[in-house]
Amino acid sequence: MQSETDAAVPHETGELIDHILARYHEVHRAELADLRPLAQKVETVHEDDPDVPQGLANALDVLAREMEDHMAKEEIILFPAMRAGVGPGLEHPIAAMRADHEDHAGNIALIRRLTNDLTPPEHACG
Ligand SMILES: [Fe+2]
Repeated sequence: MQSETDAAVPHETGELIDHILARYHEVHRAELADLRPLAQKVETVHEDDPDVPQGLANALDVLAREMEDHMAKEEIILFPAMRAGVGPGLEHPIAAMRADHEDHAGNIALIRRLTNDLTPPEHACG
């Protein structure tokens, strides 16, 4: 994953939203769509291996659904309001989005546990 410096992140609201959509939402959707079938395949093909990340495909499904719901709320409600310059009144939607972020952290912690902190076993296939 490419790292970003603060200087590379736009500060103007509309440009920052465009950046979030392209750099995060679009990438999350593509990567989660790719990962789910791979996890399912590994769980099926290696189901007898004690190191198989059993439950990973399901955890990715849950994460993808929750993130899709969250990103849709940002795209449909929060970001258009921010682009329109609405300031006061956005405290509640922003607090709700932050709470969603904390919920995602729980799922990500589960995925890290299932995958030995995202580390494949020595004998993992390609
Ligand atoms: Fe978000």
